[in-house]
Amino acid sequence: MKQAQISTLNHQYKDKINSLTPFEIYLQHSSEKEVSIKCLHKILSRFKNNSLKILDVGSGDGTYLLKSLPEDKDFEITFLEPSEDPFSKLKKNTKDNSNYKCINQTFKEFYKNTNEKFDIVLASHLYHFTQKEYPIFIFQLIFLLNDTGTLIWIERGIDEIAEFKKRFKTKLLPNRYPDKWQPRNYKKALGILKEKSGKTELIINRSELKFPYRENLDETIAIVEFYLNIDWISIPKLIQKKILKFISNRNGTLKQEEGIIIYQKQ
Ligand SMILES: C[S@@+](CC[C@H](N)C(=O)[O-])C[C@H]1O[C@@H](n2cnc3c(N)ncnc32)[C@H](O)[C@@H]1O
Repeated sequence: MKQAQISTLNHQYKDKINSLTPFEIYLQHSSEKEVSIKCLHKILSRFKNNSLKILDVGSGDGTYLLKSLPEDKDFEITFLEPSEDPFSKLKKNTKDNSNYKCINQTFKEFYKNTNEKFDIVLASHLYHFTQKEYPIFIFQLIFLLNDTGTLIWIERGIDEIAEFKKRFKTKLLPNRYPDKWQPRNYKKALGILKEKSGKTELIINRSELKFPYRENLDETIAIVEFYLNIDWISIPKLIQKKILKFISNRNGTLKQEEGIIIYQKQ
């Protein structure tokens, strides 16, 4: 049997189908961002200050935070995004506001060179570091907060997508994903943050991913690749069939959960 291949680093932001990246295709078929934007908007509306300084780490093209901003406040925002394609979209999306700064660096590069402090640090769906690095990464994010600052950490929950990933990643790459492997979820970060002095709150968002499995096989495959991070053509035909069967058995719909952790340093 041929060996399944891990997709090259960050493939989802580079390889395009119908001019969209797999991440953008996934966004079109999931209600996750819509639900999440409403929730982040509510959270940002709670802050009493009329002007807030935010750092958005791994902001992508910036739309998530931009769409979540309440209109009655002023925001000074630093968007940090190292990948070229989302960064050029980010520049376009923010060009009309002089209070927005876009930095084309990794978090590590930025952290090394900055002395700035922020009211809010947003770390939403960042998966470029290993789980072993969570304590140090979270420590560094909190270090960038001012004395009463807030970290907003957003990560997937334990849902049908996690079940899908576990089933097929352990089957396809057992050396890398043994049976005991679990997809990431917000619980590890929550445990670390609860140990710190300060206030921690958890909000759970529920949404759905609808695979276009009847009308658009290419897009269905792009979403599968986005989640498994394995090139479809390297997947044995029998397992490709099982993946499509898994999706059609659920009428193309998988339930999604997202955890929003709000940690306020005091
Ligand atoms: C899944 S996207 C999340 C985008 C956005 N935060 C959201 O929630 O919609 C992860 C982003 O992190 C960026 N990223 C990858 N490596 C990074 C690093 N070392 N430092 C900061 N951001 C990174 C990716 O380029 C990508 O845009």
